[in-house]
Amino acid sequence: MPTFRKILAIETSCDDTSVAIVTAEGRVLNVISAHQNTAHEAFGGIVPEIASRNHTYHLMPLVDECLKRASLGLQDLDGFAVTSKPGLIGSLLVGLVATKSLSLATGKPFIGVNHLEGHLLAPFLKDDSYTPPADFEYPYIALAISGGHTSLYRINGLGDYEVLGRTIDDAAGEAFDKFGKTVGLGFPGGVRVDQTAKTGSTTRYSFPRSMIKEDHLNFSFSGLKASGVRAVQGLSEEELQAALPDLCASFQEAIVDVLLDRLDRAMKLHGLKRAVLTGGVSANSRLRARAESWASENGYQLVVPPIRYCTDNAAMIGYAGIERLNRGETSSQTLGPEPRAPLGAAPLPENLPEWLKKAKS
Ligand code: KG4
Ligand code: ZN
Repeated sequence: MPTFRKILAIETSCDDTSVAIVTAEGRVLNVISAHQNTAHEAFGGIVPEIASRNHTYHLMPLVDECLKRASLGLQDLDGFAVTSKPGLIGSLLVGLVATKSLSLATGKPFIGVNHLEGHLLAPFLKDDSYTPPADFEYPYIALAISGGHTSLYRINGLGDYEVLGRTIDDAAGEAFDKFGKTVGLGFPGGVRVDQTAKTGSTTRYSFPRSMIKEDHLNFSFSGLKASGVRAVQGLSEEELQAALPDLCASFQEAIVDVLLDRLDRAMKLHGLKRAVLTGGVSANSRLRARAESWASENGYQLVVPPIRYCTDNAAMIGYAGIERLNRGETSSQTLGPEPRAPLGAAPLPENLPEWLKKAKS
């Protein structure tokens, strides 16, 4: 019987306030989130000060509601987990201070969790409508794709994460969001580009697939981002509206091509049969559909958590946290937020120019 049977977890690293109660088996007893898209939309992106203020309004009522929905009280919990890195410093602080206070008030331990570790372990979560395949286990290749990260990992076990590649400039989610803003779909762009692309042609516009033939596992999306801006320059409002589904579908296809090319290369290089897509961009419907076909053509097991566990949520933090607590790890009241905290260092491609290597190292 594990020492920690159920814990409450808090995620406030960016603009979503999320609280969950998770068991040692990864069962999500309840997860509840408050999103802030409307608060940031007018600014075309996340305003850190607004994000942290909103966390302070939402967090404690969400904790109460989460406990109520799970029919539990603080006395029923064995501990707490919180995202302590990476993220916006003010946002991280709100979650961290609340968790430390809950830990002090109840005398129960807490643990700080790396947000990316949460994404990487999300496929293990379970609830009434999602269970990972019975034979899903370590090791696997995970493609973590979000607004801030695009990285490929080999996941050997809890805490044993090998970085195989990463973006050398922008993240895939950033490219989606920038493009969404450029074509007038507002913020956040990813999900709106996805929806608009559904009726469009994937081939009408030709967007670059950077590094696709290169012999490494890194990504680059800055060229695609710039090319998205160029594609709409000079179009009248009417022309833009008429071309919007094709623009979105063609742009999205370029991202999906690159992501699947790198994932395929990583699987073959490592001779593994299990792949995971995780992070906000793995909610993309085209990517999910094409990844399914790719996996069945190659005989791979592909696990993509449901969208509620792909985008930022506290359940994934709870699972990573309870696994670590049961391994004997805890954090102390002196734990502070770390805005920048990559999980491991990634190799850079051999053929990068010297000046860029220096800038990236
Ligand atoms: O993991 P996440 O929720 O937060 C971060 O840690 O960044 O990822 C957010 C990113 C945003 O860039 C958002 O536009 C993108 O995920 N995203 C999508 C979709 N849903 C969310 N991108 C493409 N298609 C979607 N359906
Ligand atoms: Zn995330």
